[in-house]
Amino acid sequence: MEKCKIIAVANQKGGTGKTTTACNLGSALANAGRKVLLVDFDPQANLSMNCGIERPDELVMPINDIIPLVIAGKPLPDKTEYVIRGEKLDIIPCNMNLTATEINLQTEVIGLYALSELLEPLRSDYDYIICDTNPYLGLLTKNALAACDEVIIPVSPQFWSATGLTDLLETIAKTKRKINPRITVAGILFTICDKRTRLFRDVESLVSESYGEKIRIYNTYIPNTVKVGEANYLSRSILEFDPKNKAALAYEAFAREVLGDD
Ligand SMILES: Nc1ncnc2c1ncn2[C@@H]1O[C@H](COP(=O)(O)OP(=O)(O)OP(=O)(O)O)[C@@H](O)[C@H]1O
Ligand SMILES: [Mg+2]
Repeated sequence: MEKCKIIAVANQKGGTGKTTTACNLGSALANAGRKVLLVDFDPQANLSMNCGIERPDELVMPINDIIPLVIAGKPLPDKTEYVIRGEKLDIIPCNMNLTATEINLQTEVIGLYALSELLEPLRSDYDYIICDTNPYLGLLTKNALAACDEVIIPVSPQFWSATGLTDLLETIAKTKRKINPRITVAGILFTICDKRTRLFRDVESLVSESYGEKIRIYNTYIPNTVKVGEANYLSRSILEFDPKNKAALAYEAFAREVLGDD
């Protein structure tokens, strides 16, 4: 049996397609027959909403209620109570109260490892656990980095930030030295791309020149299409909403790269 991989989707720059990538990569991997768990670790709860949870504030047991139990070393409820099972894939959702949990993490020694403690026992149930992160290099994202095997970094030319990427890579390197020796950068994924634009070409060559030798840059580029926004609005992945759409096909191709089928 294939070993479970925990993937964090991270970039502290906002709006680079992290959540869309977590949702659609998860969906494409599930379509390819893999067992997938999505984890929403961003208080904006966009991933939870994209996965059909319309009112995250009404969740009975979001991840923000489980993490304090992990921190306190208390017994956790049965996983069926906090893992929401979907037809294709499962999700541990959150809501905006995760912000308060982040403050909690700061005061505890276990603060950096809480998500890792929660996810490790779930490895045996899944092929992939994909964790969405928030646009801030704080303790929530650091928890995801401490818990994961690999990081996928979505980069969108419109929201390009050289300092942002440098800070993220430094944090990953520090995490590897001090906290999680397993962690590697799986690669950079270009998202929300208009390939014909000058901006795209400029950012693409800058990223390949600056990072291409050390970091894999995925061959797949996720195109910019209004259908992604429509799918998100309707709480669905683009793969479900419009499977023939160019972004859906791109996420499928990306999933094949992740699976190493290319
Ligand atoms: N391929 C795409 N084409 C067009 N719009 C897209 C595409 N991917 C994402 N978007 C839109 O861009 C916005 C940002 O995407 P998304 O929420 O995935 O980014 P994010 O990095 O998770 O943002 P945040 O940093 O706020 O968490 C959303 O409105 C989403 O619908
Ligand atoms: Mg997001």
